Amino acid sequence: MSTTFLDACYGKKTSYTPVWYMRQAGRYLPEYRKLKETHTILDIVKTPELAAKVSLQPVDLLGVDAAILFADIMVPLLGIGVDLDIVENIGPVIQHPIQTLEDVKKLRMLVPEQDISYLLKTITILKDELKNKVPLIGFSAAPFTLASYLIEGKPTRDFIKTKSFMYNNTDVWNSLLNKLSDIITIYLQSQVATGVQAIQIFDSWVGCLSEQDYQAYALPYTKRIFENLQSVSIPLIHFGTNTAGMLKTFSSVACNVVSIDWRISIARAWEEIGYEKAIQGNLDPALLLSDFSLIKKRVDKIFSHLPKHEGYIFNLGHGMLPGTPVENVILLTEYVHSKS
Ligand code: CP3
Repeated sequence: MSTTFLDACYGKKTSYTPVWYMRQAGRYLPEYRKLKETHTILDIVKTPELAAKVSLQPVDLLGVDAAILFADIMVPLLGIGVDLDIVENIGPVIQHPIQTLEDVKKLRMLVPEQDISYLLKTITILKDELKNKVPLIGFSAAPFTLASYLIEGKPTRDFIKTKSFMYNNTDVWNSLLNKLSDIITIYLQSQVATGVQAIQIFDSWVGCLSEQDYQAYALPYTKRIFENLQSVSIPLIHFGTNTAGMLKTFSSVACNVVSIDWRISIARAWEEIGYEKAIQGNLDPALLLSDFSLIKKRVDKIFSHLPKHEGYIFNLGHGMLPGTPVENVILLTEYVHSKS
């Protein structure tokens, strides 16, 4: 099995720069879209053979250096019986958003073997299929991002409900985040025990907070999860978007890799994060909708700003967009491999 991706996570020298893409398994792939004609995303997630197949599609097609488990950040909530759906072109929708301490108390602990056995089965199948290929990445949302869905009830742009809850209902907020931290820890530990070889924690929406609020209301919980995972000895990746203004604080968790978006140059980002950690990301996913000659220029620019090659994992700054031409992604993967 190629260990290029894992080596890069630990900042080791590799013979080429490893590449994977957030949302590499998904709607831009014709094979996935075909499957979606007859199955919902949750059908796929709950059917291990299908979920594994979807995870493997980009590995074979693109030649990426890691596979990511096909699931969604809502899976642990689904596991504990939260009434939710993932609505086409909208995202996660929760029937009864969290409002009170009683609502928080009703959330129970996750029992992985019982609640998400399908996910563990998917990991087992993938491990078997991938053994001569690439490592498997497991994932979860961070407590803040998961809480934002539970409180808002649906995707939002401004996170007003979440912030009001945080400011005005701080005790309940704290008990909610405490509980989510425990659920996420158990969720990730079960993925590790079943064989994932790296973990990424997605705090997709945390960039809506000021640095001060991030420190007060979100960071302590994420920190605790990373601490809880120290004993697993696999690489841990911390992902966020809109974090350019608080990268030092964002990277103060016990992670091996920090994943950045495109709103900051990679040189400045790495300087703030510190060179002892590896770095991932930086290309704007919207660029993949343009001509490959422009994509190439922007990749060259990232590489020309890299203070060092060891510990760099090529990725996008956020997930692959639905209309992305597959051809561009194939060319991009080849190009990054050839440059390094
Ligand atoms: O290839 C991969 O990256 C693995 C699969 C994956 C999915 N969701 C499947 C999915 C991963 C890693 C996620 C994580 C996820 N889900 C995040 C964190 C990453 C990020 O993008 O910030 C978030 C915030 C969610 C919540 C969520 N689920 C959203 C916002 C959406 C998009 C809604 C839409 O339709 O535009 C989803 C649905 C979803 N999850 C899709 C996929 C492939 C697309 C819809 C579908 O196929 O039905």
